[in-house]
Parts: sequence; structure tokens; C-alpha cells
Amino acid sequence: MRKPIIAGNWKMNHTLETGTQLIHGLMETADQFPHIDTLICPPSFLLERAISLTQNTNIKVGAQNCHPEKKGAFTGEISANMLANLGCQFCIVGHSERRHIFNESNAFINQKVQACLQEKVIPILCVGETQNERDSGTTFSVIQAQLQEGLRNIDCHPTQLVIAYEPVWAIGTGNVATPQQAQDVHAFIREQLKGLYTPEFSQAIRIQYGGSVNPENIENLISQSDIDGALVGGACLTRDSFIQLLHHSQAYALG
Ligand code: PGA
Repeated sequence: MRKPIIAGNWKMNHTLETGTQLIHGLMETADQFPHIDTLICPPSFLLERAISLTQNTNIKVGAQNCHPEKKGAFTGEISANMLANLGCQFCIVGHSERRHIFNESNAFINQKVQACLQEKVIPILCVGETQNERDSGTTFSVIQAQLQEGLRNIDCHPTQLVIAYEPVWAIGTGNVATPQQAQDVHAFIREQLKGLYTPEFSQAIRIQYGGSVNPENIENLISQSDIDGALVGGACLTRDSFIQLLHHSQAYALG
């Protein structure tokens, strides 16, 4: 059985003070959910603190982005090598905001996936179609290209990689995908991974849904057979909301 993974993508939110408070708040309760991989992805200035505070707890820490080069003249960037050195276990790669605001290509994202794997940081590769792409019926071909190009020459164990399906039109809009819409794309992703890798690989890898997930809708999503967790933005920013997400996912971690 695939262990659910509930990840909070803080994006560019929280200060040293409020972020630290949130981590402390989560630490008080997260140990009640040993059957869920609980992950927080704070902004990079908070990573070191998050990692040191959550040592010996059930909370794992991930970054929101990385650069594929180890070091050098890349002002403002942080490398996968640096993340590994900090003790960071995961890194979100190819989030739609990186693709669309910062113009990241599938080829560049592929380099990041490679760098993460080389450093033993688990990449969470995000894929998803825009509203226009959905409306014009190209959802599946867009996702297929993002997977094929994002995973080009990537050879790894299914536990070393996570995929997140995040329809762009659902992110930050309150316009969550229906459980059936999400399940259909998750099943398609699993089928694609079967072709790219093996049936065993595709059955073992975890695929998260992201886009306007909240405590009210998570249960209907995570109960779908191919949805193994959530990548959550807005609803991960307060303790109570994030803990509610874990509560509502608990049953699917046990059954
Ligand atoms: P949202 O963001 O939950 O606020 O829609 C999800 C994400 O961008 O990962």
C-alpha cells in the first residue's frame, strides 16, 4: 500500500517568527499521524530552522525549488546539493508558478529532477494543464509531454520520486478539480509511468493532487484509488487547517 503524503507548500509566506510558531504548532500534533508522510515546504530562509526543529518528529522538510548546478554564479538560487547538505529530504520541482511566472521549461525541470536524485533529495515533480489546455481538450497530451520530458533519462526507484498533479486552473482559485477529474488524470499518469518504467514502478509511486485542497474536500479526493495525498498551498498556512487535513486523510492511511 502507498503511504499517503500530505505536503504544505508555504510559497512566499510567513516570517521567521510566524513560520517558527507554525512549525512548533504542527510538531505538537503531527506525531499522531505516523501512517502519513507529513511534509512542510517553507521558503528557503526557514529551511535550516525547520529541519533542526523537526528532527526526531514525524514532520519532514522539503524545499520549493532548486537549481541543478552544484554552485556558482547563479544569484538568488539554491542548489540541490545545498539542500542535501542542510538535510532537506524533498524538493518541489516544476511547480506551475515556476513554469509560468519564471518560464521554466520541461528540459530545465528535468535537470532539476536529475540534480535532486543525484543528491538523494526526493523531487516532487509537478505537472498540470492550464484552463485553456483543458478547454481545448489537450490535458492528456500536455501531461504526457511534461512527464516524458521531465523524466527524460531518469532512472530511479519509485520511493525516490513523487508526482504531483496540479491543474493550473485549480491552484489558488478555490476551484478544486472534482474527485473524478483528478482521478482520471492520476490514472492516466500511472498508465504513462507504466510505459516509461514498469508496472511495478507505476503501482508503487505516489501521486499527489494539488489545487485548492482544503479540510472539507480532501477526503473525497484522497479516497480515489490513484490519489495518494495532497500538495496544499493556502490551507497549509495555519496549524488548525493543516492538522485537519491530516485528520481527514488518516482513514485512508490505515485502510
Ligand atoms: P493551493 O495551492 O492549495 O493554494 O491551491 C496548491 C499549490 O500551488 O501547490
